[in-house]
Amino acid sequence: AACGGGEKKAADAKPASGGEEKKDAIVIKFSHVTSVDSVKGKAAQKFADLAAEKTGGKVKVEVYPSSQLYGDKEELDALVSGNVHMIAPSVTKMVKLDPRWQYVDMPFLFKDREHALKFFESDLAKQLLNSEQLVGNDIMGLAFWENGFKQFTNNKKPLKAPADFKGMKFRAQAGKVLEGQFKALGAGSATIAFGETYAALQQGTVDGQENTFNNIDTQKYEEVQKYLTVSNHGRLDYAIFVNKPFWDSMPEEVRTKVEEALKEATEYEWKLASEDNDKSFENLKKSGKMQITELNDAERAELEKALQPVYDEFKSVITPELIDGIKNLK
Ligand code: LMR
Repeated sequence: AACGGGEKKAADAKPASGGEEKKDAIVIKFSHVTSVDSVKGKAAQKFADLAAEKTGGKVKVEVYPSSQLYGDKEELDALVSGNVHMIAPSVTKMVKLDPRWQYVDMPFLFKDREHALKFFESDLAKQLLNSEQLVGNDIMGLAFWENGFKQFTNNKKPLKAPADFKGMKFRAQAGKVLEGQFKALGAGSATIAFGETYAALQQGTVDGQENTFNNIDTQKYEEVQKYLTVSNHGRLDYAIFVNKPFWDSMPEEVRTKVEEALKEATEYEWKLASEDNDKSFENLKKSGKMQITELNDAERAELEKALQPVYDEFKSVITPELIDGIKNLK
């Protein structure tokens, strides 16, 4: 395979966070795949700083960004086995353990940002974080982190109508729902790890991809993509997952402080996500590198209609409880 092995990378990796450290500090290894200047990268660092501050250095969070410790293919296994203690994947990547996490990919399910935040605080969300599927694998979810709505980029042509997608090939994050989404548009897709996506776009392995403005901007996809379509057709959001035996092994008074740090970092993250996505959209416009197409309401409605088969095929897998529950939050 073209990608480096997780083991080798793990040995070479250096954490991004420094800070003072007590000799007997509890080390929390936090691995993620985006860059230090992405929304997730900044919030992970914020959490590391807050945890050190609140515990007086008793806890040291080592943040490993940019897939340098583990990439998409390895990080969940590494968490289950306890080789890393905390990860914050795009929730659809949890599909391996529980297909319901693909709720996030269902086209046009979330009407706006407030709808997504309302879901994060709902009982439905709490049930997902504490599901048997996770706890049975020694992990649990602690919080949702936001990224934002996804947009399409590609190298072939401006995408305005569903028919424009025909015959193209897109990079997908994970799972059958995203595959089904592209299939409904007459397009092909390939699951490619985030860390390998820039190269796949550059080399033409795929014609396009879908992501948030902030991921497009911080990964510099504008260097290797010609067209951007602002469609807001689906969400990309995160959850914080920890290795449960590790988490439970922390002395209670320490864990409480770390949980406080996470709560504050989460508040910071929710604010940052929308601000940085707005800024990234501006950056992408200013770069002048991609031709930008903003879909109007009628065009979005057309896309939504074309993507209806995704509901027909996957509603039972994601469960009607979850899909209708999310719809009814509004
Ligand atoms: C992606 O694979 O495109 C995203 O899930 C990356 C991320 O973590 O935001």
